[in-house]
Amino acid sequence: MTDEDKNEMIVTPWEVKGKVDYQRLIKDFGTQPLTSELIQRLAKHMGGVHIQLRRQLFFSHRDLDTILDLYDKGTKFVLYTGRGPSGPVHIGHLVPWIFTKQLQDAFGARLYFQMTDDEKFVIEDNRILKETTRLAYDNALDVIALGFKPENTYIIYDVDDIDLLYDIALEVAKRITYSTARATFGFQDDTNLGWIFYPAVQAVPCFIHKKLTGQNLPCLIPAAIDQDPYWRITRDIAQKLGYYKPAQIHNRFLPGLGIGGKMNAHEPETAIFTTDPPDLVKQKIWRAFTGGKATVSEQRKLGAEPDMCTIFQYFLYLFEPDDKKLEERHRKCRSGEILCGDCKKELTERVNAFLGEHQKKREKAKDTLDQFHIKR
Ligand code: TYM
Repeated sequence: MTDEDKNEMIVTPWEVKGKVDYQRLIKDFGTQPLTSELIQRLAKHMGGVHIQLRRQLFFSHRDLDTILDLYDKGTKFVLYTGRGPSGPVHIGHLVPWIFTKQLQDAFGARLYFQMTDDEKFVIEDNRILKETTRLAYDNALDVIALGFKPENTYIIYDVDDIDLLYDIALEVAKRITYSTARATFGFQDDTNLGWIFYPAVQAVPCFIHKKLTGQNLPCLIPAAIDQDPYWRITRDIAQKLGYYKPAQIHNRFLPGLGIGGKMNAHEPETAIFTTDPPDLVKQKIWRAFTGGKATVSEQRKLGAEPDMCTIFQYFLYLFEPDDKKLEERHRKCRSGEILCGDCKKELTERVNAFLGEHQKKREKAKDTLDQFHIKR
């Protein structure tokens, strides 16, 4: 295998590898770039340009303009996002959820949040269903800890709530051919039937609001771009079923602490989980890939490369709210004024402070879990 092959970009709902070229994804997936005009339109409702938009963590969309046009004319929308409970939540997952919370607050939108214990069970050979279901309830604590409003947040646990979803899933499944699904997801002869049916289940929350309330509202999905193939097939059939096409706003991937790809639960040594204790966080950050030079004296003389450094990305995504201070860190890194050890130490302190608070809120969330369940 050549270095080029190893670095080849793969972005599917189940795998993200190599150096991610976001402009190419916009082209390949057929989405639209998030323009400054659209960012300004969002800013009007969100009390300014939200930090995640300023930092360009969201970069692409489908029909966000339509959602805003409708909203301006008096049609509200619902939000929809989710989690495939394959293990503990990592801090990359929080990126779209933090933005979703801002949207919920700014637009007063109801959120449907899907926990796909079924998906994780069917796509991985050694998974036990009881375990993915247990993880679904465990991961919900992270969602609640972010401060979503219970009265406006409806968590769906696929296996336990399938009675609520099944009729819509059937309507969707009936209208998607196997050849479309195969072309979209790359299904093979040995792909199991559960996996092939599953995309119909992930489509359901786009449409469920009408069944629950009688109101046909459009839906906006904040998520990383890996989930986009699901919405492509859902958009194809939405209008045939009398619904709006679901709209999306796509975020970039928080990288893992290694080289390339995204933070990924399957590589636990390069992912920071929300349940990690302080010592483990320190250890992981300490071993991270940076843009530093081989020796201190070389780095002092030549400076380092923040743009290829994973540690810098963490400040950019989540852990440096002040734009000026971020710029200053970038400059000092390039000039050799600060060393990788300095950044690692500061990042460790910030991540641990954040996780300390988050873990307390997670514990508290155990008392309110039921208030968020779609069947409350
Ligand atoms: P899952 O559990 O793989 O990911 C949950 C959410 O996190 C996003 N994401 C990331 N964002 C930033 N940086 C990363 N490193 C990173 N890794 C993952 C994902 O795009 C996703 O938004 N099939 C879904 C569950 C699901 C869902 C949905 C997700 C069901 N319905 C609607 C989004 C919207 C899954 O396995 O997500």
